[in-house]
Amino acid sequence: MTAAFRPIAFVLNGARKIVRVHPLSRLLDVLREECSLTGTKEGCGEGECGACTVIVNGKAVNSCLVPVAQVAGVKVVTIEGLKGRHRLQRAFAEFGGAQCGICTPGMILAAIALGPHPTLEQTRTGLAGNICRCTGYEGIYRAIRKAEDSVARRSRPAGPLAKAGRQKTGDRRRKT
Ligand code: FES
Ligand code: FES
Repeated sequence: MTAAFRPIAFVLNGARKIVRVHPLSRLLDVLREECSLTGTKEGCGEGECGACTVIVNGKAVNSCLVPVAQVAGVKVVTIEGLKGRHRLQRAFAEFGGAQCGICTPGMILAAIALGPHPTLEQTRTGLAGNICRCTGYEGIYRAIRKAEDSVARRSRPAGPLAKAGRQKTGDRRRKT
């Protein structure tokens, strides 16, 4: 460890993390090389493509532009923090939101940072900094809309048919 290296503590995917690095190291490099979280991708390395997007204190940021010292004491979420279980991850796979996958972690995190129920216009504007060479974007917008639809369906008040459906499911579980 050289004299310029410093311990920097932050909360990474819900757990406290301390890295000993130069404070001006790019967050992107620290995540990939010090934390072994290679889901965060490098595209342009200049803040133009969004492939390196992570969420810092609730906001999408390009980790290639962030010196790691800036995240001292704050919360960072990478694609690994979703544990493969977020509805957007399923929707991107199911509805053509991902092809080569290079842009996908950044797209998904940028979409999460939009907050709940973004309109198509808000989605287009919010993801304008995330470039995809493969999908033509329609698959991405469709995946985000379908994921939102699934939330809306689950939060809708249950009518008599929904009640009957739940009862049937319960019956089936009891028999097995
Ligand atoms: Fe960071 Fe392109 S790699 S914006
Ligand atoms: Fe290949 Fe977006 S899926 S760049």
